[in-house]
Amino acid sequence: MIIHSAQFIGSFPSNHKMPKANKPEFAFIGRSNVGKSSLINMLTNRTKLAKTSSTPGKTQMINQFIINEEWHIIDLPGYGFAKLSKKHRESLKKMIANYLKERESLITTFVLLDARHSLQKVDEDFLIWLGQTGLPFSIVLTKTDKLKQQDLSKQIKHFNATLSEYWDPLPPFFSSSALRKRGQNEILAYINSLIKG
Ligand code: GTP
Ligand code: MG
Repeated sequence: MIIHSAQFIGSFPSNHKMPKANKPEFAFIGRSNVGKSSLINMLTNRTKLAKTSSTPGKTQMINQFIINEEWHIIDLPGYGFAKLSKKHRESLKKMIANYLKERESLITTFVLLDARHSLQKVDEDFLIWLGQTGLPFSIVLTKTDKLKQQDLSKQIKHFNATLSEYWDPLPPFFSSSALRKRGQNEILAYINSLIKG
C-alpha cells in the first residue's frame, strides 16, 4: 500500500467524543514506551505525525489519524505505566477498554511487544483480557534493531512458545523496527488485505 496522505484528526478522551465511526480503524497498543507512536510514524513515512518521547507516558488520549482519506490509525495510551498514580492508571485502562469494546469501526488491534524483553505480566494480562473480549488482534515486535539476528530469532521463538500456551492458531505476528523501517510492507499489506476484505 502506498501512503498518499496522513493527517492528525484529533485527541479524544473516549469513543463517545470521537467523530462517527465511518471508516475502517486500526489501533496500536502496548506498554508505555514500547514504540507505538514511532511505529505509526514509520508506517506512514512521517517523522512527526504521532508524538514520540523517550519519557514513558507521552500518549494519554485516543489519538486518531486519517490515512489516504480511507482508513484510520488510532494511537492509544500505553498500559501498565508504573509511575502514574493507581487512579490515573485505572482511568487510562478504562479509556482503552471502553474504546476497544465500543468502537464499531475497529477492524483489528496491533499489540506491540518490545523485542528485547520476555513477555511481561502486564502484556500477558492485557492479551488475555483482549482474547476474552473476542476482538481480533496481531502481535508486533518493536525495536528489533536493538538485537542481533540470532538473539531476535531466539526472542521470536520465546514469544511464539509463550503465546501458544493461550492461542492456537497464533494471531498474526510481525517484527518491526521504526529506526530501520522494518515491517512496514508486511503490516501495511496486512491492513490493506483487511480493508479490501
Ligand atoms: P507512550 O506514548 O509513552 O506510551 O510511548 P510509545 O509506545 O508511543 O513510544 P514512542 O514511539 O514514543 O517511543 C519510545 C522511545 O523508544 C523513543 O525514545 C523512541 O525513539 C524509541 N523507539 C521507538 N521505536 C524504536 C525502534 O524501532 N528502534 C529504536 N532503536 N528505538 C525506538
Ligand atoms: Mg506514544
